[in-house]
Amino acid sequence: MKLIERFHRARRDPTLAVLEGFHPLKHALRFGAVIEFVVASPDTSVLRSAAERLAPDLADQVSAIEATSVEPAHFEELTPARPAERVLAIARRTVVDAERVASAGDGLVVLLESPSHLPNIGAVVRVAAAAGCAAVLTTGPHDPWHASALRGSAGLHYALPVARIESLSHTRRPIVALDPGGEPLRPGLLPDDALLVFGTERHGLSAELRERATLRVGIPMRAGVSSLSLATAVAITLYAGQHAGR
Ligand SMILES: C[S@@+](CC[C@H](N)C(=O)[O-])C[C@H]1O[C@@H](n2cnc3c(N)ncnc32)[C@H](O)[C@@H]1O
Repeated sequence: MKLIERFHRARRDPTLAVLEGFHPLKHALRFGAVIEFVVASPDTSVLRSAAERLAPDLADQVSAIEATSVEPAHFEELTPARPAERVLAIARRTVVDAERVASAGDGLVVLLESPSHLPNIGAVVRVAAAAGCAAVLTTGPHDPWHASALRGSAGLHYALPVARIESLSHTRRPIVALDPGGEPLRPGLLPDDALLVFGTERHGLSAELRERATLRVGIPMRAGVSSLSLATAVAITLYAGQHAGR
């Protein structure tokens, strides 16, 4: 199969992920992804030098990869992104039982209601991974494993469960709605197993999720500021709302 066709198919395959650049590949390897195919341009020495500079801990794993070299012009046909390190990979997605994660369990879960920008989804996955969240779930039409979201997360989708759900069915987790008008965020306010729901970038939270929430929490803002960006709101909530020392 031609390379261009191989990447085209991988982008449409719900079991696969396309990793664009070395950073997503680095995190995918660190968190145990199954890598199926790697290309590097102009040749495979790019992989070794990137590992030396950016991930010496992965030097052995990276040198064991049997990558395919491609000409720079051909590489550009395979991806609309222009990664600093000209590396592309196809990896298996993690299989996630999203309904089970949403319905009960330990740790905070972030639910993004119908996010509209793929890089925002990636930025949220990145901070949720850093803060030790149990999962990131999304509703709405966008695939949270889209290559643009994986670029935004630098491949940290492999560090925690990430999945799309049709809608939020019954859950034993306490639902906490993040809403500027809610109770001011403070350390320890969030139940340890909360499902934190964040609204869409343009319209905010739906009335349905707002009504189902047992707690509404707001991040205080100076008068005149209407809202924070989605990923900023998630980051502040995770770092300022958990018990100190977690
Ligand atoms: C970009 S904001 C949505 C702005 C939207 N125009 C609105 O009126 O809600 C995206 C989401 O981030 C969260 N958010 C933003 N600022 C917040 C704040 N100060 N306190 C709590 N949540 C906030 C909310 O969940 C919001 O739905």
